[in-house]
Amino acid sequence: MSSVESQSRVLSGMRPTGKLHLGHYHGVLKNWVQLQHEYECLFFVADWHALTTHYEDPQIIEKSVWDMVIDWLAAGINPGSATLFLQSKVPEHAELHLLLSMMTPLGWLERVPTYKDQQEKLKEKDLATYGFLGYPLLQSADILAYRAGHVPVGADQVAHVELTREVARRFNHLYGREPGFEENAEAAIQKMGKKNAKLYRSLKKKYLEQGDQDALEVARALLKEQQNITIGDRERLFGYIEGGGKVILPEPHPLLTPAAKMPGLDGQKMSKSYGNTIGLREEEDSVVQKIKTMRTDPQRVRRTDPGDPEKCPVWQLHEVYSAEDTKCWVQEGCRSAGIGCLECKAPIIDAVLAEQKPIRERAKQYESEPGMVRSIVVEGSEQARDLAKQTLEEVRKVMGLSYS
Ligand code: TRP
Ligand code: SF4
Repeated sequence: MSSVESQSRVLSGMRPTGKLHLGHYHGVLKNWVQLQHEYECLFFVADWHALTTHYEDPQIIEKSVWDMVIDWLAAGINPGSATLFLQSKVPEHAELHLLLSMMTPLGWLERVPTYKDQQEKLKEKDLATYGFLGYPLLQSADILAYRAGHVPVGADQVAHVELTREVARRFNHLYGREPGFEENAEAAIQKMGKKNAKLYRSLKKKYLEQGDQDALEVARALLKEQQNITIGDRERLFGYIEGGGKVILPEPHPLLTPAAKMPGLDGQKMSKSYGNTIGLREEEDSVVQKIKTMRTDPQRVRRTDPGDPEKCPVWQLHEVYSAEDTKCWVQEGCRSAGIGCLECKAPIIDAVLAEQKPIRERAKQYESEPGMVRSIVVEGSEQARDLAKQTLEEVRKVMGLSYS
């Protein structure tokens, strides 16, 4: 596949380290469901990634893999639109990780902010391992194996996509220079015709001499339009604009998930480690109980005390779930002690249950057919593997490993 086509491919992964909750749904899954209609999507269970932090208790990983795939399907990921797969079923990820490790400076990995942060945060675990340091590079391999153009991630993962871009650039610089690259590129320019060749040359010059980003964009668009050059030539000319070699591994772009800050039951961000979650398909009774017992504005001791929604975690849930009229009703009723807290929570309970209803129903169906879930993953993994194989073939070739 060429880097032009790869621009429409989206890849993302999730670590299987426990059941998903509504924070995952609002923060990630809803976005995936949307993307599957707009792009060619590949979503995978990052089981090797989970081992980098859970190597001492791998049992949780195996169990979570299937729960998580059911969660995805229940949330509306459609295996007809998106390819769902398991990382360890595609050994090309590991091979690419190894090959990239040869040319990735150690300092790049040591400087990834999550490296020190996570070690600090997960003090109880010994993360001074080779695998943990290499974790962001494994992520780069995940992305580059499919030459994905876009990677939906949260803000905390943007640095990993940036690393991936640097690794790809370095790779292309080192290995994109086939013998006779410049001659081939010059010959390809000729094939575009006089007018386009002249335009390409002047844009390239503008970009290289003045760093003009617009010129780069225009030149790329120009190449995309060319009908009479081969894919190989197009790749060459993509690389040649930037003064480099052929683009073997295109640089991916982070697709920043619109920051849906899903509040947990205590008003902090919903997270397993804060113990403030509502499970994606948690039992109804338990959901009702959790919301009913949520703390409210501490100033509102009695029903007759007026309160302040800004000091209340329930209000934050209204911000996520309620329409304007309900929000006005809360603001007014809370500040005037016109409504009670249980009354105020009722629309939230209804909204959460309504949101979970179709999810719970779809999950039931998949739970009753574990064979179907497995075959979705087996098939998806085979499809993914076919794609990754194509990339690896080219990577091996340029690294001198094709032996043909
Ligand atoms: N590191 C990601 C996380 O912790 C998961 C992940 C692994 C991923 N490989 C990826 C995300 C590739 C996007 C692309 O959430
Ligand atoms: Fe919170 Fe609603 Fe009670 Fe006000 S009325 S304190 S917003 S639960």
